Amino acid sequence: MKDRLGVLISGRGSNLQALIDAIRDGRLDATIALVISNRDDAAGLERARAAGIETLTISHRGWPSRDDHDRAIVRELRARDVGLICLAGYMRLVGPPLLEAYPNAILNIHPSLLPAFPGIDAQRQAIAHGVRVSGVTVHLVTSELDNGPIVLQRVVPVLDDDTAETLAARILVEEHKTYPEAVSIVLAGGWRVEGRRFLRSASAASASPSRLPAGS
Ligand code: GRF
Repeated sequence: MKDRLGVLISGRGSNLQALIDAIRDGRLDATIALVISNRDDAAGLERARAAGIETLTISHRGWPSRDDHDRAIVRELRARDVGLICLAGYMRLVGPPLLEAYPNAILNIHPSLLPAFPGIDAQRQAIAHGVRVSGVTVHLVTSELDNGPIVLQRVVPVLDDDTAETLAARILVEEHKTYPEAVSIVLAGGWRVEGRRFLRSASAASASPSRLPAGS
């Protein structure tokens, strides 16, 4: 079912926590059916358990191929009727078995304004480049890393005395607001993908506005 989420993590899980909190507070109308980590020491697993959410560790090691690992994940998600996958700090590339099982139904959150600074250490890359603003992007996942249609972005200023750590902390505050909102937009429907663009119908956009009005 569409509003049954599967969240994939590898570590801290603060974005998972943001989704849990948004559901609890009624800002996001969804259910997290399953949290899967590829590492059994991911702190996010404990967050899920504390919220009473089922967890699984499916290590990426020990499979004959990367695709076999993905297929195992698909089996578990399908067994729980998951309709939308949220990557939340999941440090693995998503391969064809997952992409084909969940077309346009996998979301990722990335700590930069894509297409700037894809890949790891996005905040360090932003500082090194000297950009004045960075931010957060939630996008649909495709076969190319950090490159799918963009659902939602938020801008965060980069300050002269920022380090990668201080910028990451400022961006993270926006991540936690942006991810639940983007999931809500995707679950609400009334959107389509045209080329690289994620486009919402006028009625869907006015039902849950996601951007500041022009000129504000
Ligand atoms: C976040 O910065 C997210 O944008 C990136 O990985 C980090 C995960 O953090 N993809 P957390 O595990 O959600 O705390």
